Amino acid sequence: MDYPEITKPNVDQMPVRPNLDHQSRLIGSFDWTQIERELGIQNREELNLAHLAFDRHAKSHRRDKVALYWEGKNGEMESYTFSELSMLTNKFANVLAGLGLVKGDRVFTFMGRIPEVYIALFGSLKFGAIVGPLFADFGPDPVRDRLQDSGAKVLVTTPALRDHIASILPELTDLKHLITVERDGKYVGQAGDLNYQELMSGASVDFPNIRTGADDYSIMHYTSGTTGKPKGAVHVHYAAIQHYVTGKWVLDFHEDDVYWCTADPGWVTGTSYGMLAPWTNGVSQVVYEGGFRASAWYSIINKYKVSVWYTAPTAIRMLMKAGEKVVGQHDLSSLRHICSVGEPLNPEAVVWGLKAFHQAIHDNWWQTETGAILIANYPFMKVCPGSMGRPIPGITATILDANYNEMPPGKEGYLAIRPGWPSMFRTYWNNPDLYKSRFQNGWYITGDNARRDIDGYFWFVGRADDVINTAGHLVGPFEVESVLIAHPAVAEAGVIGKPDPIAMEVVKAFVALNDGYQPTSELRRELTRFARQKLRAAVAPREIEFVASLPKTRSGKIMRRLLKAQELGQPLGDTSTLEDY
Ligand code: PRX
Repeated sequence: MDYPEITKPNVDQMPVRPNLDHQSRLIGSFDWTQIERELGIQNREELNLAHLAFDRHAKSHRRDKVALYWEGKNGEMESYTFSELSMLTNKFANVLAGLGLVKGDRVFTFMGRIPEVYIALFGSLKFGAIVGPLFADFGPDPVRDRLQDSGAKVLVTTPALRDHIASILPELTDLKHLITVERDGKYVGQAGDLNYQELMSGASVDFPNIRTGADDYSIMHYTSGTTGKPKGAVHVHYAAIQHYVTGKWVLDFHEDDVYWCTADPGWVTGTSYGMLAPWTNGVSQVVYEGGFRASAWYSIINKYKVSVWYTAPTAIRMLMKAGEKVVGQHDLSSLRHICSVGEPLNPEAVVWGLKAFHQAIHDNWWQTETGAILIANYPFMKVCPGSMGRPIPGITATILDANYNEMPPGKEGYLAIRPGWPSMFRTYWNNPDLYKSRFQNGWYITGDNARRDIDGYFWFVGRADDVINTAGHLVGPFEVESVLIAHPAVAEAGVIGKPDPIAMEVVKAFVALNDGYQPTSELRRELTRFARQKLRAAVAPREIEFVASLPKTRSGKIMRRLLKAQELGQPLGDTSTLEDY
């Protein structure tokens, strides 16, 4: 079904005139150095994310403006101004200096959304460390894999999460310091741990010099591919240019906005848009530690008078499911602009947004590797429900055929980007060959299939690989299969994404058992528990089906494509390479 376009009023008639207000800005000549100048960057050798996010504002009229409104999961409330965060991050940078770290060392955080995550991450960036924020719901194995691969020297966590990963700590030979954050002030850490509050109270509030330049590594996020373990996509401080300008153009930040990004810092959306975009723009943002509940979310919007809201399609579908009645119980009139990212935003959700929030939800597209938004629906542009929008100024996106040649509008193919944008990843940690393989014929190959229409709008078609997107989280099937076959009962495992009305896809595993094991529901529960402990609960298989054997190529590779076709009742396609099974 085709959905009607959602037109926009003339920009002069909008209650707040959009920062990017004209189509022509999308075409004409554009140069990123314009944005450097706008941010006051004179010397590329002195460029630091924490400086751009806090110190710059702490010396301006925004000094006492609230940067962070924090609401804990038990209703606790705290707020931090730009100058307070500037000082607290100075202190944390000095903590690292006191521990003898050097520029380029890796510092990881493993915590829920508490203020100390932001202080530790930006303090580390200020110091010149490379930071890696981890999801708090990781089991011990993913934490071990990431800390080992990155050779992290410092881990900042909480006592409870430290206990959760106690079994892997002896394997982390590079890890020199474990800092635990106890919010209630009691020190309950283990012998040998360092106490965050003690370190901070002894640290100086001055950290005068900018120690990083545009091309120094800043943040790494591990992301899943089709094969192997997750890879650490590494970004540089210069990415800030693009976080800033996409915050301005796509999220349309204005001085008085209160912004809420629902993403966790463990995900790149939570760093690029849950930290860098709002704070480089000097905008106040809300961080809510609690999880999803429709009425709690609407209460946050109402309580903090959130005006710009950045969320994800699964969350919107869950809000749809909760119904319009719940929307009606809250005054959401502060909402001015809503954006969404991470998975396809189905047109029904956009149309529902019109009814529920009286405005379009603006879809946009990017990836861990791209570091920032590249394709977007802007406030001034008509919205075609189901489309991701158009490339931002400075970005050339195209559709390529199987030989990496450009295709005309209307054709489906590989979504590709001309390299060189500021927030582009600069390597996969320890994996330069894989990095190189992502560039073909002068293009960065995104791994997505898409098409472009004659108006230049891009439409997502699907992943070009087997990677599963469940509620916005990318899951490499290989990772899940490896975990399952580590269980003594499992001989073989094949993992696919099964379509789901809310989460887009859920992880489904097909499992063949070793002799002596029976396919009982008890074993199914045991395997689910096992996988949840070794992965993140959010990405562990939602369904496990026992099968006698799995379809494989003659070379022994599991044919996930066939499992998926069987699951969906679709034709099996070319099975000439299939081994008898
Ligand atoms: O497949 C695309 C999907 O999510 C992938 C990127 O995932 P990740 O690296 O975890 O994302 C980080 C920040 C968004 C993409 O390759 N994706 C992202 N946005 C959209 C999307 N699929 C469809 N529509 C989108 N707007």
